[in-house]
Amino acid sequence: MPHSTAELGGWSTRYMTACCDPAEYDDVFTSKYARRTAKSFRASGLDDTAAKMADFAADQGPDGATVLEIGGGVGGLHLELLRRGASQATNIELSTAYEGEAARLLAESGLADRVTRRNADVVADPSAAPEADVVVLHRVVCCYPDFAALLGVAADRARRVLVFSYPRPRLLTRTETVMENLGYAIRGRTFRTFVHSPEAMLAVVAEHGHTPAIGGQNVRWQYTGTVREGPERP
Ligand SMILES: C[S@@+](CC[C@H](N)C(=O)[O-])C[C@H]1O[C@@H](n2cnc3c(N)ncnc32)[C@H](O)[C@@H]1O
Repeated sequence: MPHSTAELGGWSTRYMTACCDPAEYDDVFTSKYARRTAKSFRASGLDDTAAKMADFAADQGPDGATVLEIGGGVGGLHLELLRRGASQATNIELSTAYEGEAARLLAESGLADRVTRRNADVVADPSAAPEADVVVLHRVVCCYPDFAALLGVAADRARRVLVFSYPRPRLLTRTETVMENLGYAIRGRTFRTFVHSPEAMLAVVAEHGHTPAIGGQNVRWQYTGTVREGPERP
């Protein structure tokens, strides 16, 4: 679904393409990037935004909740939710470069039998993503041009809770995004990052039956936790 720069609320989005080449996600989110994020998770656990997202998901999700993480990288967030009482997790990730590190983390945690990992673009192949009580996307919508399609799939899969994070729309993050995207353009890549409009994202999840229940922010990142309105789906 195409969106104009004006709809997306910021000049950093002018680099947006209809969609980038999915194969490029392996070149951007590499095994080196995976090693770095796994090392950081082993050393200090979740970053502060992910920790707050986990608190909300653990508080609002039912006992023994199932979890769907989209773009979960090495999987720190769903591992934390499993440690806090979730029963099963599925991770759908576009880049294949995380799998070695993710397998090591799973082996170390003893949780391998409760996690399913698939490599897919959930927008191109929504059938790869099962419904779950809790759906989480940490720092993912900013790596995908069509946030409406991505959040639409995520919200539809969330029986009870959806929680997602994204860059705050401010000069700092917009400038960083423009610089990053110039770097990708110079290297001939079609991959881009985005500062999508929070209002537009909230409108999408509302259209898909979710009501915002919590939010927070730090200097760069913002998160929103939502719950599904009406009777819970079985
Ligand atoms: C910045 S990384 C964040 C990884 C992890 N959530 C973290 O915070 O460490 C964004 C991830 O989202 C994944 N991603 C973006 N769009 C996706 C989509 N449509 N389907 C599946 N994964 C996606 C990318 O491959 C990438 O690994």
